[in-house]
Amino acid sequence: MIKKCLFPAAGYGTRFLPATKSMPKEMMPVVNKPLIEYGVDEAIEAGLTGMCVVTGRGKNTLIDHFDKNYELEHQINGTNKEELLGDIRRIMDSAHFTYIRQREMRGLGHAILTGKELIGDAPFAVVLADDLCVNEEGDGVLAQMVALYKQFRCSIVAVQEVPKEDIHKYGVISGEMIKDDIFRVDDMVEKPEPGTEPSNLAIIGRYILTPDIFDIIENTKPGKGGEIQITDALLQQAKSGCVLAYKFKGRRFDCGSVEGYIEATNYCYQNLYKKDEQKMELDKHATAKTS
Ligand code: UTP
Repeated sequence: MIKKCLFPAAGYGTRFLPATKSMPKEMMPVVNKPLIEYGVDEAIEAGLTGMCVVTGRGKNTLIDHFDKNYELEHQINGTNKEELLGDIRRIMDSAHFTYIRQREMRGLGHAILTGKELIGDAPFAVVLADDLCVNEEGDGVLAQMVALYKQFRCSIVAVQEVPKEDIHKYGVISGEMIKDDIFRVDDMVEKPEPGTEPSNLAIIGRYILTPDIFDIIENTKPGKGGEIQITDALLQQAKSGCVLAYKFKGRRFDCGSVEGYIEATNYCYQNLYKKDEQKMELDKHATAKTS
């Protein structure tokens, strides 16, 4: 059973400078919630309870966010502002958080390896919080992947079709389709040179990994950009066993880029925030009528 979710959150977020100079990218709000909280919500919805966060220097607000703030809570206690803390209180009641620091930013593969002490020897999920995923039609992306893992018991990467002009920004897979939307990976390239991409299927920030990945990463040499790449380790795993790629149901916003972040903000405001607000109003009226 998958119980833990790793959140690599030690990166510098350079595409969002100067906003990320002293604030973690994962704490940037989309409407009224920081990015990482959307990721944690998705993990809880998938039945995971252990949130393991890889942090770095200057990321302490991340840790504070999932802790009590006694002074603030005392101030708003009994006022109508208290309900604004409802969601984060529910998160803190249903999940526990552990943290480890990545001392040198040596790439996503290295960040995942840093999380080994928190994860232990069991399969686990990985969420890159700057990829915000929503699926209003049904299960969240991680829940879809956990269900797939129960069936196939191997590492799974979430993929999405990406236009040719953008594919060089991603890890790209190729493989044989073994079922609707499920591919058995036979090749994987990190940020391919234009014209060399093996397909238009780009890896996004959701993974299920089996724990043998840690030994593989330990033996993975720095790749593209001098960083230890999870794609290189996954290709190794695919060659010696099985890695699946899953074309998920739902939408994904690249909140590590300014355009994606604005798109996510507009979408979440219209489709999530306003609906929640309307529901809260209706609930209030219903309670007023019955009391
Ligand atoms: P990105 O490359 O998207 O994040 O890494 P970044 O480096 O923070 O962003 P830019 O490109 O400079 O704007 C993907 C994820 O991996 C984490 C990041 O925090 C992000 O969630 N990461 C990356 C680490 O935790 N450690 C690393 O050494 C590298």
